[in-house]
Amino acid sequence: MKPQFFEKTEIDTISERLEEERIFHAVQTSDNHKETYGQYFTPYSIADFMSSLFPATDKPIRLLDPGAGIGILACSFMCRILKENWQTSSIHVSAYDIDNNVFTTLNENLAASIAAFKNSDYEIQTDDFLEKAAIEYVWHKDRKYTHVIMNPPYKKIITNSKERYYARILGLETVNLYSAFMGAAISLTEDNGYIVAIVPRSFCNGVYYKPFREFILKNCAINRIHLFESRDKAFKDESVLQENIIIMLQKNAVQQNIRISYCNDDSFADLSEFEVPFSQILHENDKEKFFHIPTKKQVESKISEKYSNLKDLNIKVSTGPIVDFRIKDLLLKDYAENSYPLVYSVHFKNHRFSWPQKSKKPNAVLISEEVKKQLFPKGFYVVVKRFSTKEERKRIVASIITPEDFVKNGMTFENHLNVFHADKTSLSENIAYGLVCWLNSTYIDEKFRLFSGHTQVNATDLRNLPYPDFGNLSKIGERLKSEKEWNQTVFDNLAGELEK
Ligand SMILES: C[S@@+](CC[C@H](N)C(=O)[O-])C[C@H]1O[C@@H](n2cnc3c(N)ncnc32)[C@H](O)[C@@H]1O
Repeated sequence: MKPQFFEKTEIDTISERLEEERIFHAVQTSDNHKETYGQYFTPYSIADFMSSLFPATDKPIRLLDPGAGIGILACSFMCRILKENWQTSSIHVSAYDIDNNVFTTLNENLAASIAAFKNSDYEIQTDDFLEKAAIEYVWHKDRKYTHVIMNPPYKKIITNSKERYYARILGLETVNLYSAFMGAAISLTEDNGYIVAIVPRSFCNGVYYKPFREFILKNCAINRIHLFESRDKAFKDESVLQENIIIMLQKNAVQQNIRISYCNDDSFADLSEFEVPFSQILHENDKEKFFHIPTKKQVESKISEKYSNLKDLNIKVSTGPIVDFRIKDLLLKDYAENSYPLVYSVHFKNHRFSWPQKSKKPNAVLISEEVKKQLFPKGFYVVVKRFSTKEERKRIVASIITPEDFVKNGMTFENHLNVFHADKTSLSENIAYGLVCWLNSTYIDEKFRLFSGHTQVNATDLRNLPYPDFGNLSKIGERLKSEKEWNQTVFDNLAGELEK
């Protein structure tokens, strides 16, 4: 009989229940048992992330979960299909495990998560996965899965063991159960099928794993690599101190750029992603075939090799100098002759200056000796808000100020803004427009998210971003100036031309 919690097939209920069962297992199972079976279950948030990597499809799915435990990985994939309502014509799940203790829960979980689909079924194989894979390979019953999702057992395997023997049948000489499992899963995957695995990072280098790296390179393209920045964060309920990576492979597919992502822990709150060419992962002529996974820092410096920085361009960026609560007495709701415009983020609409505004914010500041020192003369400036809200799609929102926006020769900026200027004087016109285009591009937003996990944009962050050289910045500025309507497509198309 189906357990009650699944009757509604509510995804949240499923995920909560799997988490409860995982934590129960982590606490109740002896270390000895866990070690014997290489048994550490995957936190649901990680399983959910792994499932999210598969591209959506409406073709029949034949999913393999080798070393399935209580079925967290396979169930999370079913949840994704359900949540996104894929029009998949049929689903078949094969789950392997050899531990008698998990079968009942595994059976309940698979039964319940697959119940929502028509034309679906599952099987639980209680045989040794490696042995079964070797037999299927020998009998040419391999290449039958379209998807594999796996967190294989981790255990060294000695030279004359049966595991080494089975792996050898599959054409792989390897030293650990996890790499043997992955090799076997690759063998059982059809061409263009996907394998998503969470495994220790150790196979990426080291002489013992060279045959395994060669096996991967011969049979698969690497699509995606995800890293957890802290060693102990992926399996924090267990005492697993391995550095783990999530890797997505595609069987016999053409190798393209590889998407790398980082996050600190299993909440994925600060996920940052970027793409690197394959040559950056596998260096040309590297006889050892090491997989070099770039760190965030390396990516940052690569970016700066290709582009200019603000210093090269003679552009400065400063935080708005006026801290309003310190000069409350000088603030004016409305502009008057004896004042200067004081600019807040409310004074920008669709990336252009829109002042004065009826709002809670002042529009002007009375002339004083202190204020006079903080004035920017009539000219072209670019302004970026320092604080965006979580709901805003973009972190960096840049707007232009032109000489026509000045009611007199000077205005100043409140502290919640960043201002681009040329040593407190006007930027050249095309450069100012170029900056607006560049800073508002999706490309820059993605680069910014590499360095920063929060919504605040400081002057230092803006200094650390890559910028095109003077000529190119000026060129896109000139083009943007002639565009009547500014929107994301316009920014991205113009900025994108520099990327070609
Ligand atoms: C690291 S756990 C992962 C469990 C599950 N995939 C998850 O992510 O929560 C590995 C599982 O592989 C199973 N296992 C170990 N050796 C196996 C073998 N030779 N064949 C099939 N399963 C095996 C263990 O019992 C364990 O449940």
